[in-house]
Amino acid sequence: MSQSTSLPTHVAIIMDGNGRWATNRGRPRFAGHRAGAAAVRRVVEAAPHLGITTLTLFAFSADNWKRPATEVNRLLRLFLGYVRAETATCVERGVRLTVIGRRDRLPPTLVEAVETAEHATAGGRTLHLRLAIDYSARHAIAQAAAAGTLESMEAVDLLIRTGGEKRLSDFLLWESAYAELYFTPVAWPEFSAASLAEALAEYRRRQRRFGGLPGLPGPRDEAAVAS
Ligand code: IPE
Ligand code: IPE
Ligand code: MG
Repeated sequence: MSQSTSLPTHVAIIMDGNGRWATNRGRPRFAGHRAGAAAVRRVVEAAPHLGITTLTLFAFSADNWKRPATEVNRLLRLFLGYVRAETATCVERGVRLTVIGRRDRLPPTLVEAVETAEHATAGGRTLHLRLAIDYSARHAIAQAAAAGTLESMEAVDLLIRTGGEKRLSDFLLWESAYAELYFTPVAWPEFSAASLAEALAEYRRRQRRFGGLPGLPGPRDEAAVAS
């Protein structure tokens, strides 16, 4: 296999634009976050049918603690509700759910729900869903470097950001070294299975070279190069 872009196995999404989506409709910002949770359900359901095996979603950054306490608390409650409600569905659909990011600053109830979900869904093989909560890529890189686990961090194939901004906001900086970047003005609450399919169609039109030349093996074919 060459640098084929036919199988975007690891897709990561910066789910942005919830607040502006709600504000533009004269609704409180939290209405955008609630609609965003529905978008998560749509995308998780669609992902396996599109060839995605790992889906990493940026739900709350380590810098989002700067927001007003009311918004932060409502978001944390929304995550708790999501994890609790979705655990059974994940088990049913073979979705392995894990959470990346710091846990020491999260409410104990949320940490418990996450641990329960991770345990219950550990056997899931259809899709690995990773939710990034209190996540900072720079923090994760520093920790992995200290632990000697940098090489086990899974490369991102396609990184999507909704909501119109064109920046990474401290998300998966190490894993995205050769990720294809896709920015869309669509606000996260409006992101659909069709939007995801469109992003993947664009991904398949890209040519990944990993520093090589067209037609040479990609990084996943190192064994073939060596032999
Ligand atoms: C993304 O939407 C969700 C979180 C960061 C928790 P925002 O809340 O950042 O929405 P905008 O960018 O203000 O529209
Ligand atoms: C990034 O969005 C974090 C999440 C989507 C969870 P932000 O809205 O926090 O990023 P900035 O502040 O626009 O860079
Ligand atoms: Mg934002």
